[in-house]
Amino acid sequence: MSERRAYALRLIKKVSECIRQGVFRPLPVRTFPAAEVCQAFRHLAQARHIGKVAVTFEPGEVPAVPLGRRTSIRPDASYLITGGLGGFGLSTAQWLTEAGARHLLLAGRSGASTEEARKTLETLRAKGVNVKIETVDISDPTQVETLIVRVKESMPPLAGVFHAAGVTADDLLIHMNPEQFERVMKPKMRGAWHLHTFTRHIPLDLFVLYSSAVSLLGNEGQANYSAANAFLDALAWRHTLEGLPALSVNWGVIDHIGMAARTPEVLAHLSRAGLRAMPPQQALKTL
Ligand SMILES: NC(=O)c1ccc[n+]([C@@H]2O[C@H](COP(=O)([O-])OP(=O)(O)OC[C@H]3O[C@@H](n4cnc5c(N)ncnc54)[C@H](OP(=O)(O)O)[C@@H]3O)[C@@H](O)[C@H]2O)c1
Repeated sequence: MSERRAYALRLIKKVSECIRQGVFRPLPVRTFPAAEVCQAFRHLAQARHIGKVAVTFEPGEVPAVPLGRRTSIRPDASYLITGGLGGFGLSTAQWLTEAGARHLLLAGRSGASTEEARKTLETLRAKGVNVKIETVDISDPTQVETLIVRVKESMPPLAGVFHAAGVTADDLLIHMNPEQFERVMKPKMRGAWHLHTFTRHIPLDLFVLYSSAVSLLGNEGQANYSAANAFLDALAWRHTLEGLPALSVNWGVIDHIGMAARTPEVLAHLSRAGLRAMPPQQALKTL
C-alpha cells in the first residue's frame, strides 16, 4: 500500500463503491445465545455453516455455577498473601478478614512502605486480626522455604496461599531485553514455583494465583507479563492434576488500586479494547 498508493486508493474506492451498492455484502451470521453454546459448537462441527457463527451474551442469561466444593475461610488457620502489601494484596487481606480470617501473613520485599499499607494494617489490627509482615523476596527459594518453616513454628496451620506478588516492565517485544523479561518472570513464575515446592506437602484449602486476563488476551508491550501469567495458569492445571487445590484467576482491570491504577496508559489501552475496570470489592466478592 505504501509503495503503490495510487493503485491502493483506486482499489479501496472500487471496493467501497461495491459495498455501497450492495454488490459486496457482509457474510451471513448465525447467532446462538451463550446458554446454547453447545449447539453452536455442534453446528460448527457438522460444517453446515456459511459465514460466521457468533455467540451472544445477554445479561443474566448464563447462570454461574461454582465448579468445586465451597471452601470456608477459617479463624483458626493462617493465610499467606504474597504481594500482600500492594494494592490488591491489601484488598485481599481486608476481604479475608471480612470472611472470618484472623491470622494473616503479608509478604513483600519492602514491608509496609506506603501510607495505604500502614492504614490498612492499623484497621485490621484494630479488628483483632493477627497480621504479620514478612520481608521476603518470593523469587528466592531459600527465603520462601524459611518463610514456610517460620509460619509452621509461629502461626496456626497454613490453610491458604494467595500469590499476588508481581511487577510489570512493559516494552514492545522488539525492544525488550532479557533483564526486563526476567524481572517480570521472577516474582510470578519463580515465586509461584517456590510456593508450589514448599507448600505441596501441607494440606491447604486454597492455593490461589493472581493471574491476569492479559495471559489470555495479550496486551501491547506486555509479552513478558502475559508469559508470566500464563505460567500461573499452567501451574494451576498441574496442581489440579496432582489432586492439589489450585485456582488461577485471570483478573481483568482492577479499579483505583494497584498496578493498573498506577499506569493510566495501560488502563486507557485496555478500556479501548473493551476491558473496563472492576472495583476490588466486586472482584473479591466474585472470588
Ligand atoms: N491491579 C490490577 O488491575 C490487576 C489486574 C490483573 C492482575 N493483577 C495481579 O494482581 C497482583 C497484585 O497486583 P497489584 O495491582 O496489587 O500490584 P501492586 O500494587 O504493584 O502489588 C504487587 C506487590 O508485589 C510485591 N512484589 C513484587 N515482587 C516481589 C517479590 N519478588 N517478592 C515479594 N513480593 C514482591 C510488591 O512489593 P515489594 O515491591 O515491596 O516487593 C507489591 O507490593 C499482581 O500479581 C498482578 O499481576 C492485578
